Amino acid sequence: MNDAAPNAAPQTFYLKDYKPFGYEVESVKLTFQLSPNATKVHSAIRFTPKADAEDNRFFLHGEQLSLISAKIDGTPVTARLVDGGLECDVPRTSFLWEAEVEIDPAANTALEGLYMSNGMYCTQCEAEGFRKITYYPDRPDVMSTFTVRIEGDEPVMLSNGNPTGAGEGWAEWHDPWPKPAYLFALVAGDLVNHPGSFTTKSGKDVELNIWVRPGDEGKCAFGMEALKKSMKWDEDVYGLEYDLDLFNIVAVDDFNMGAMENKGLNIFNSSCVLASPETSTDANFERIEAIIAHEYFHNWTGNRITCRDWFQLCLKEGLTVFRDAQFTADMRSEPVKRIEDVIALRARQFPEDGGPLAHPPRPEEFQEINNFYTATVYEKGAEVIGMLKRLVGDDNYYKALNLYFERHDGQACTIEDWLKVFEDATGRDLNQFKLWYSQAGTPRVKVSEEYADGTYTLTFEQSTPPPPGQPEKAPRVIPMAVGLLSPNGDEVRATEVLELTEAKQSFTFEGLASKPVPSILREFSAPVILERETTNSERAFLLAHDTDPFNRWEAGNALAKEVRVAMVLDGAAPDAAYLDALEKLVRDDEQDPAFRALVLSPPSQSDIAQTLHERGHTPDPQKIYDAAETFTQTLAQQLETSLPRLYAATTVEGPYVPDADGAGKRALNGRILSLLTRLDGGEQAARQYASADNMTQQYAALAALMKAEKGEAQSKAFFEQWQDDRLVMDKWFALQIACAAPETTAATAKELTQHPLFSMKNPNRFRAVMGALAGNHAGFHHASGAGYQLLAENLIALDSVNPQTTARMCAAFQTWKRYDSKRQAQIQAELERILATSDLSRDTHEMVSRMLSA
Ligand code: PHE
Ligand code: ZN
Repeated sequence: MNDAAPNAAPQTFYLKDYKPFGYEVESVKLTFQLSPNATKVHSAIRFTPKADAEDNRFFLHGEQLSLISAKIDGTPVTARLVDGGLECDVPRTSFLWEAEVEIDPAANTALEGLYMSNGMYCTQCEAEGFRKITYYPDRPDVMSTFTVRIEGDEPVMLSNGNPTGAGEGWAEWHDPWPKPAYLFALVAGDLVNHPGSFTTKSGKDVELNIWVRPGDEGKCAFGMEALKKSMKWDEDVYGLEYDLDLFNIVAVDDFNMGAMENKGLNIFNSSCVLASPETSTDANFERIEAIIAHEYFHNWTGNRITCRDWFQLCLKEGLTVFRDAQFTADMRSEPVKRIEDVIALRARQFPEDGGPLAHPPRPEEFQEINNFYTATVYEKGAEVIGMLKRLVGDDNYYKALNLYFERHDGQACTIEDWLKVFEDATGRDLNQFKLWYSQAGTPRVKVSEEYADGTYTLTFEQSTPPPPGQPEKAPRVIPMAVGLLSPNGDEVRATEVLELTEAKQSFTFEGLASKPVPSILREFSAPVILERETTNSERAFLLAHDTDPFNRWEAGNALAKEVRVAMVLDGAAPDAAYLDALEKLVRDDEQDPAFRALVLSPPSQSDIAQTLHERGHTPDPQKIYDAAETFTQTLAQQLETSLPRLYAATTVEGPYVPDADGAGKRALNGRILSLLTRLDGGEQAARQYASADNMTQQYAALAALMKAEKGEAQSKAFFEQWQDDRLVMDKWFALQIACAAPETTAATAKELTQHPLFSMKNPNRFRAVMGALAGNHAGFHHASGAGYQLLAENLIALDSVNPQTTARMCAAFQTWKRYDSKRQAQIQAELERILATSDLSRDTHEMVSRMLSA
């Protein structure tokens, strides 16, 4: 059976239409008889009609299922198959529903529901995948306990909760915690485990396992440590303890997203859990630690307290991202994590919020919920919680969180429930604050200043550009962290959080001996675009003196952008004062290497395009590329005499340790190597490549060489060395495209799609190639249109294989209105071509239509 004709007018779901399900689900018992092409799923579900139900319709979701039989209280019944599920006449009292269905996991390339990956059975149910396993009220507000029996000849057969029995060819599991179906999981295959254990603060022993394919055992130790640290951190910081005797993680190669928080059985994209010094970079290690923490933290913020409906997705995701960012800041460096997060927010969320795919953190309508696992729901959702914490203060934040866990444990909640605990814990009215959840768009805040007679006044004007045809948006509550510095660099006012609530608002500071230099939006205290007329010398001053590390970086970043923008718009030469400031900073060994590496990393070309667009210019990708090249070359030349010394001084000796300290040093060393490679013909990079004993240094050397078009031999050697390692090969695919010159990017990518190791079925590999194409700004937007064309062709081909990944990658086109009319016409033609594809998935259809209709 197929989904309803996807090109027919798709159904839109609205938040305002929410209605509870008319039945309680008392318990669920599932029996799986595994077989690659014909798995049988028997379900036995006890339903009780709710006395106060508005709606008694008995509708169960179901897609791509073959119904074999259905019974109520043991008597066969005839169910009516309807669009998206079935209906049935049922008794007015408690009854047992039984159904047997057949599904085809081996044919499931969409990787949603029960599917196979390298011969292993695996499930993915969030958001609406359980309905591809059996008929069920597949909505997050229906929670029940699950008992699962798996029959098959796989050596390892896992499900949620605790094991309750196993024998030859079968295994049984019981999860005592009521959960929505999206948290159901089953895994079966030839797996080996890396074991561990954790004793909770109340003294309960928990068995931990990371399950992997044979051969990957050596890549689990880091993930296991990250898991234990996460468990401890959640106890220490939030007072939250784990609630089962067992916690399993499974690594799977074919997975649409990063990882999934299924109760007691997290399933991970292998790229987000497998780690070893030889195969993973420092950035990989940091990300793996963060994702393990993220999924673990979901056990409370997501599983014990879940979402009433999918419009509330940011309730669990925003909060869990916020918590994992706190964790990473605690484990590593708080300012570095903040800077990284802001870079990512500007790269992914700001363009989304300012383009045709803009939506509030809590959307009010969707066609396909899979399209709303976005930077806005996740990252802006987390920013909103950061603002809330700043506004109420740390003590009140944890007081509110305690109330949240106490009041809502075991429930499926809404953003209203969430805000209410803050109101009740603090007595604060959060009505205006709530606009952050209901309005899309990035507010712009214009700052002006005045100084007279010792009084300094800052005036803020906020506005949020509404989408075309919509009314101006109401002012929001914006926590604006501000500090003041004296002209000699001393801090004369420590950080203070000003609360903006009006469209225009002034704040005064009295008793100042001279006009201060303001440090505004410290720690990036709100996700806004700050507009302030200032000079490059003031920025350079803040880069040298600001006491807030985030704003110190921000000053350098703003300076870098100004210099780039001037180069692009006026053909200016790279600003000498800025080059001097950079040189001074790089050579200053007192400064944190990680911080120096970040300041030395140029703003991305896409960021420059976005900045030009925000200022009313049409970005020219080739010019932006040329400016970047000129700048980096000039910087390399300026540093020429010190580069060899700096390279030597920042080289990390001794065995590789993937900690924050070493990572910071290696990041700086990598930046220096890339500059050096522009001058020494690649000698140093070739030496580093040959001697590296860890992926961070091997990869840095290869990237520097390839960028300089001197890496052919090393790229071949890299392939030979790593061709059997799937995750390392993803790097190899991506790097060639990332390093290609604009005019050869599309051709390079195209050639790689013909490589025997390229695959449409593996999302990591597809993303390695197509993601790198879209990420090479000047190459993707090359005037020939070849980049657009290649991506569109591949998206069309992928759609029938894997709609979710196709739809997500369509977002590469979301910034199309930034560019000139010729590029716009080219992109529009590609989007129309995608939309005209027959049998296009609902996922891709929605994304492309939204982009076209804006
Ligand atoms: N809930 C997962 C997470 O954020 C993400 C996810 C969504 C995974 C949908 C798979 C499918 O942790
Ligand atoms: Zn999550």
